[in-house]
Amino acid sequence: MNKKIISLVVTGAFMALGTSAAVAAPDWSKAPKKDIHVFHPGAAPIDWVNGKGDHSGASGLKKGESCSGCHIEDGKLSIDLKRMASKEMEPKGAPKAMTYPVGVQAAYDATNLYVRLTFKAPAGGFDKSDKENEVKATIMFPNDKVPMADQVGCWAACHKDARTMPGADDKKTKYATPGVMDLMQWKSSGKVVDGSVTDKRNMEGGKAGVTAEGAKAGDTYTVTFTRKLAGGVTLAAGKAVTFGVAIHADNSGGRFHHVSFNHTIGLGADGDIKAAKQ
Ligand code: HEC
Repeated sequence: MNKKIISLVVTGAFMALGTSAAVAAPDWSKAPKKDIHVFHPGAAPIDWVNGKGDHSGASGLKKGESCSGCHIEDGKLSIDLKRMASKEMEPKGAPKAMTYPVGVQAAYDATNLYVRLTFKAPAGGFDKSDKENEVKATIMFPNDKVPMADQVGCWAACHKDARTMPGADDKKTKYATPGVMDLMQWKSSGKVVDGSVTDKRNMEGGKAGVTAEGAKAGDTYTVTFTRKLAGGVTLAAGKAVTFGVAIHADNSGGRFHHVSFNHTIGLGADGDIKAAKQ
């Protein structure tokens, strides 16, 4: 045994303190939980959303309205899920469960933001291309240089020429230029991604020092993310940050995830999710 281990074993109280400081788990019973309804987005990239003709929301977006402003009413999704599952929006095949709730909680301290997701990942997916991971949970935060980030959230990164889009090549991933998005992902295989979206999706090299832990109890997943307030996208107390959630359930890959519209976490400020300082 080296000296460090002995001292940890001997000073049990210290060890407990050290562990909790390293994980710094907030008291989740004090963080209000809000359900965000993720849904299968089909192949409806930002190009489709902004295009005249197919989407009557396009002119509202030009005037500054947001996806969730039009598509969420009283906390519930207002979107035609039958249309989303039809060949018009989903040429390959839709999952059986088009939508489900994800409970979101958040808290922060002087250094970090903590976000906890609680959800049941449904079976009955169409695409099962990720053999390694039954489930992946992802959160992205766009910065203010991402076009229309406050209005469209993750959609700003979702373009029609991105991988797994109909007719797109296999190399191009999502992109957010001239801005950047911080991307954090937990995979059920245990891997954690601290990444970003710039002119492509980078599954490493993120600046937010992301860690994540996840577990499945019964049929419910609980995933807790920790990220620094500083990052590619810098968060600050007293401000709200836009974010979006995506869950890949049932071994799905690529665009076959269930996603949220744009939401905000208010760090000691107003927001869809209110994060209190702990
Ligand atoms: C100004 C209000 C408004 C905004 C903003 C808006 N939408 Fe829509 N959206 C609509 C309306 C109305 C429809 C249904 C009629 C249609 O197809 O145009 C619709 C339809 C859709 C559909 C097809 C499913 C359906 O219900 O017909 C998708 C997908 C969609 N919107 C996504 C988005 C996304 C993503 C954003 C943000 C990037 C967004 N919308 C912003 C009003 C809006």
